[in-house]
Amino acid sequence: MNDNFNLDSSQTTQENNSPTIENYLLEDRVFKPDTSFIHQAIYNSLDIYKDADENTELFWEKEAEKLSWSKKWEKVLEWELPFAKWFVGGELNVSYNCLDRHVENGKGSKVAYFFEGEPGDKRTITYQELLDEVSKFAQVLTDFGVKKGDRVAIYMPMIPELPVSMLACARIGATHSVVFGGFSSEALKDRINDAEAKVLITADGGYRRGSLVPLKQSSDEALSETPSIEHVIVVKRTGQDVNMTPGRDVWYEEVMKSTPGFAAPVPVDSEHLLFLLYTSGTTAKPKGIMHSTGGYLAQVAFTHKAVFDIHEDSDIYWCAADIGWVTGHSYIVYGPLANCVTSVLYEGTPDFPDKDRWWKLIEEYNVTILYTAPTAIRTFMKWGTQYPGSHDLSSLRLLGSVGEPINPEAWMWYRKHIGSDSCPIVDTWWQTETGAIMISPLPGITDLKPGSATFTLPGIHAEVVDDVGNKVERGGGYLTLTQPWPSMLRGIYGDPKRYEETYWSRFKGKYFAGDGAKIDDDGYMWLLGRVDDVMNVSGHRVSTTEVESALVDHPSVAEAAVVGANDATTGQAIMAFVTLKSGEDPSQDKGEELRKHVSTKIGAIARPKTVIFTDDLPKTRSGKIMRRLLRDVAEGRNLGDVTTLADPKVVEEIKNRAQVSPQED
Ligand code: WT7
Repeated sequence: MNDNFNLDSSQTTQENNSPTIENYLLEDRVFKPDTSFIHQAIYNSLDIYKDADENTELFWEKEAEKLSWSKKWEKVLEWELPFAKWFVGGELNVSYNCLDRHVENGKGSKVAYFFEGEPGDKRTITYQELLDEVSKFAQVLTDFGVKKGDRVAIYMPMIPELPVSMLACARIGATHSVVFGGFSSEALKDRINDAEAKVLITADGGYRRGSLVPLKQSSDEALSETPSIEHVIVVKRTGQDVNMTPGRDVWYEEVMKSTPGFAAPVPVDSEHLLFLLYTSGTTAKPKGIMHSTGGYLAQVAFTHKAVFDIHEDSDIYWCAADIGWVTGHSYIVYGPLANCVTSVLYEGTPDFPDKDRWWKLIEEYNVTILYTAPTAIRTFMKWGTQYPGSHDLSSLRLLGSVGEPINPEAWMWYRKHIGSDSCPIVDTWWQTETGAIMISPLPGITDLKPGSATFTLPGIHAEVVDDVGNKVERGGGYLTLTQPWPSMLRGIYGDPKRYEETYWSRFKGKYFAGDGAKIDDDGYMWLLGRVDDVMNVSGHRVSTTEVESALVDHPSVAEAAVVGANDATTGQAIMAFVTLKSGEDPSQDKGEELRKHVSTKIGAIARPKTVIFTDDLPKTRSGKIMRRLLRDVAEGRNLGDVTTLADPKVVEEIKNRAQVSPQED
């Protein structure tokens, strides 16, 4: 990442004094929290920011004290840049904190998960039941020789046995590495081998949009080249035919039945490795991001409670991400369980059997808090308002967004059509590497601006800096984090050098992980996308996010991606790939109208040279637009690595359109 900036022209910046990333899009709508929301909110006074600023370590220490420790720490923080240790010397167990202590507090009959499978099967799982299942499975793992410190790979659909497996690992001090169930056998193999996992937990298959995903079959392909794996435990989900290798493979249901006894939680050091989660980056070898125990749980529990204003006794919370991503680790499993919340867990896609599946779920379970991604919101915009419109969504009181910048119009649509024009929206910025939310409103305190993630959370310190690392008070630049935080990554598994080079070498003493941001006149932060996507048009550095947001602002547009393509005159020229809302017709005139719209909205410099209409955009499995591939298309190159694409057909189709319908000046 570091050696791949479009922006590293520090000299130019100093000579002509042009800003690092320019600021075009102005947004002046402000939404204050309702008095009634403020009144009931857990955090509704600025004191929390003041306290955290005055003494950040003490602030986090108080959060850590809300967890249950078997041994108290001796020191809050040990910081030898870039290596942090939090709650040094303390010992705790994550599964104890997520399960046993709630049961001990009389909450055993409270529902932990309302599970719904894609075919419509339902399970209600209480904290007591989850504890029993986890302790039993922890015993199974122990019997299979899994010990504290061993790595366990998990490759599963979104079924209850997935959190059970993670918590069972945590219970005995094993480190889990969840590999998203949509990844290929190749991706699974690489991740197993990098971590040298001893056991793989998988399922026969899973359901996706009505068809069966052959997880055991993909596992078998991976397992022919994974020498570290000794046993495979297979959950029966779909009942499809699978091969079981005698001596290596066992059925989950059978070993659960035959294992007597339950494993007790094993206290581990605060810095013990809780999990690895691989981030694919765009091209390079996946990085095994390391997360440890005490600091991670403290920050995840705090941010979950504060950002989502969690009322333990009344909220039904639904994070609609996949547990295979960090969002699911922190905000489906660890945060909600640490806070003893009732969550919805849904296995499938939003359009099965029809495009109203989510809204049906919200109505049925009376969901009060929904956390999802801009890509999903823009897809719903494309499908039309009749789907949410035909369900009662009045139980919702708070909405969240994560994963990409949310375009102001998508934000407005989300609030209006999902949030009855009244729910606060928390736009939460964070990363696999940060482990927990870092920049976000607090819904009972912060005045919201559509499209802005607003401010750093209490206890978090960020700075936007220019090319040479100087703080930018107002305007655009690089987003850096200037102090360690409890849930920060502890490194890249097996590669401390790559950790330092990737995150800590661009700006001295600061963490930088690739995002651009700007600060407006009121001090609000606006995320501008990855800096290696920033375009350079006639010497102006234009953020993809701002041009995309201007396009999405047009009433016909559901989604847009823009890239800079080499151009003899302007250096780069902006090429826009646009998906219209259903019922809208792509035409030459519409293209012209959109170009004008961008001009009016943010200025002629940002007007796309070409507009290409497409039914879909190339996205990663987690829903992020892959602009790198669109640049390849725009510049007529052979496509780079497409292995992380959700649907490789999409680029081929766009490629064909780009050849037939350029709309040049
Ligand atoms: C990257 C991290 C964090 C969980 C899911 C993604 C982008 C994330 C936002 C947001 C603008 C965002 C950033 C970040 N991103 N949230 N609210 N506004 N951009 O985790 O796969 O590690 O991706 O997602 O570019 O660096 P991830």
